[in-house]
Amino acid sequence: MKKLFALILAMAMAFSLVACGGSSDSDTDDDGDASSASSASTSEDEDESGTESEGEAEASSTDDTSSDGELIVVGFAQVGHESDWRTASTESCQSVFTEENGYELVFVDCDQDSAAQLEAVRSFIQQEVDYIIIDPIVSTGWDTVLTECEEAGIPVIVIDRTIDDSDKYAAWVGSDFTTEGLAAGEWLKAYADAKGIEELNILVIEGTTGASATIGRTEGFQEIADKYGWTILDSQDGDFTEAGGQEIMESYCKSYEGQFNVVICQNDNEAFGAMTAMTNAGVTYGVDGDVILISFDACTAGLQYVQSGDINADFECNPLAAPFVDEVIKQLEAGETPETTVYMEEHWYTYDDTVSTFEVDGVEQSVTVVTDEIVEAQY
Ligand code: AHR
Repeated sequence: MKKLFALILAMAMAFSLVACGGSSDSDTDDDGDASSASSASTSEDEDESGTESEGEAEASSTDDTSSDGELIVVGFAQVGHESDWRTASTESCQSVFTEENGYELVFVDCDQDSAAQLEAVRSFIQQEVDYIIIDPIVSTGWDTVLTECEEAGIPVIVIDRTIDDSDKYAAWVGSDFTTEGLAAGEWLKAYADAKGIEELNILVIEGTTGASATIGRTEGFQEIADKYGWTILDSQDGDFTEAGGQEIMESYCKSYEGQFNVVICQNDNEAFGAMTAMTNAGVTYGVDGDVILISFDACTAGLQYVQSGDINADFECNPLAAPFVDEVIKQLEAGETPETTVYMEEHWYTYDDTVSTFEVDGVEQSVTVVTDEIVEAQY
């Protein structure tokens, strides 16, 4: 019944969904890589309250239909399609939330537009979906619409980025962005020491302003820069896109010509754009270049550039959250209380073992040298 109602309302709302790139995707292709999610879930690390863990979930192959035998309708308000990482995240959801697995997925690509994302969530409420998944473009401005979800009795599951001004959701599954930033900083310190580089003059290309991925990586790296007295010459928003990375780097190459020896890009696609800009400006980068290039995400193309030595180090952000969300939904369907916070397992990738271990807040971190096998297995 809910499904029929949802379909009628979905047709009525087609215009507004199209306006923000929406599409019902219950029979989209399923060539996403949910199976590799098992490699993202090896350790378990509950905190004292028992509410945080490094997730252990596998892509579901069992039927998750609700107890009345109908498909479970899941609305997913995705950030957009700005990066390789985002594509992997979307494909992960599309491969898990299939009819075969007992789901109907209503997918909306919000094209990095926060207003469109709020509209998408409200359309899910009107469609009376069973669950709403949100990957929040920005971390604030959520309490009103999450209250509306709560009043409608629809559980919300947040993935990837965090919501920081409301707790009206059942669970969050994502990355520890601050630790990613801290790790990038501490690795850079160890690498510079090993290479005998005493002075670091750093340019940062940030992700989307207001996104928790940007906030965490920026704060984590800044903490290390402050600790070691590094100079951050500039830090600007590249919106997590290749075009954004290229544009900011072109302007940096002009404004800071000859003054910088480190570039931090807050995702792989920005790094690809920055590499184009530096090549065009005659600036050399990577293991044999004048500029140390650091990136985040570690998607396939990013790792290929690490393997070729163009990117010195890539700090993983794992996009394969969907199997964990499937677990959360199963638990909610069974009347159980899911973990409220699940961190994805992530690795730090480098070209070689110049630095093999380093510490973040006293915890030893190991570094993974990229091989053909690693590139092949990556999303
Ligand atoms: O929120 C995750 C970030 O968003 C990824 O680093 C980036 O690629 C994406 O756009």
